[in-house]
Amino acid sequence: MIISIPKEITPGENRVAIIPATVKEYLKKGNIVQIESGAGLGSYISDDEFQSVGAEIINDTKAIFKNADLILKVNSPTMNHELDSHEVDLMKEGAGFISFFQTTIEKEVVQKLTSKKISGFSMHLVPRTTLAQKMDALSSQSNIAGYKSVLVGASHIGKYMPLLMTAAGTIQPAKVLIIGAGVAGLQAIATAKRLGAQVEAFDVRPVVKEQVESLGAKFIEVHAEEDEGVGEGGYAKETSDEYKQKQADLLKVHIAKSDLIITTALIPGKPAPKIITEEMVKGMHGGSAIMDLASENGGNCELTKPGKVFKINGVIIDGSFNIPGTMPIHASQVYSKNVSALVNYICPEGKLEFDIEDEIVSGSMFTHNGKITDKRTSDALKGDA
Ligand code: NAI
Repeated sequence: MIISIPKEITPGENRVAIIPATVKEYLKKGNIVQIESGAGLGSYISDDEFQSVGAEIINDTKAIFKNADLILKVNSPTMNHELDSHEVDLMKEGAGFISFFQTTIEKEVVQKLTSKKISGFSMHLVPRTTLAQKMDALSSQSNIAGYKSVLVGASHIGKYMPLLMTAAGTIQPAKVLIIGAGVAGLQAIATAKRLGAQVEAFDVRPVVKEQVESLGAKFIEVHAEEDEGVGEGGYAKETSDEYKQKQADLLKVHIAKSDLIITTALIPGKPAPKIITEEMVKGMHGGSAIMDLASENGGNCELTKPGKVFKINGVIIDGSFNIPGTMPIHASQVYSKNVSALVNYICPEGKLEFDIEDEIVSGSMFTHNGKITDKRTSDALKGDA
């Protein structure tokens, strides 16, 4: 089949869904790889580098979509204003499509894909199972976000991160608080520790205590029933009002003494839980900062302005989107590896044929043969009817 990689047109996107190493993997399976000219430039990969490993470079956006049996992207299909066409309208009927895709939010695009009989797969939907671990792009990108948020946060605060003994006296280490110790949170803890900060972390799932402590951070514990914040598949679930009150009372004290707070709290399929109130921000000291990684889902801090960085009472609140895109070389490297693992799993013979009984195929697919195949996606669309 022809696997095509168009240029990303979402503003500020530097990542790309293929690197020379994954081109080779696709070719080995007998596929043809076509890449739009310049698609790799944001990640510092030239057309020549792609060509030298056997990819065809196409200098025509319409052709790259029209030729494709399977299209690989980072971002979901969007309007191409230069061509005055939506990317879905440029696709061949019945083609396959893979990217990050918020299928319960981007409902109009889901409908467009359905009417074009596109087999759509979202990297957001890949099950977080052991077998699918190498396809887990959410984790690979969250890992980057956790790491980079500490570096950016460290440059927002008015302090050193490590303990320093200087001729001018001893500098105390910065106090870093991580809220949500999942993939991004654990990487943030490890990074802040490496920089020498004093790190504390909180999560509603008590099971992460051991992981937090093994990274050398202190776990802040809210005493409650064993399964209070533990939902299906090891993910978090909404906690009771009583627990939320206990959590707020305890966190208020830790928030007030923190120099840098990184929030990553997420409950799948729900808006981000609001954990840091306006009152708590008022209790923070000038020169401190909050990196709110949950900003795309509304933010874990009441004051976060999604996509924006601003200062209030001397506290910087950073709700930047697409932090992985600021590290495009490694973000593209791991993303393209996740995508190629998925492609080679769902199309092992290099043909656009799917075993829809398979857990990973059915889990990550949301449209096929003119129908919506994912329940959460169809429920979200029904909600509009
Ligand atoms: P994850 O599911 O691995 O971790 C989320 C953690 O939050 C879980 O451990 C969960 O138990 C915890 N949690 C849920 N509710 C909580 C609460 N009320 N209090 C404390 N902890 C709570 O998710 P992952 O992959 O680490 O992603 C974290 C966040 O980072 C997501 O919102 C994701 O969208 C965001 N993200 C942002 C990026 C950016 O560029 N801004 C890039 C990548 C991820």
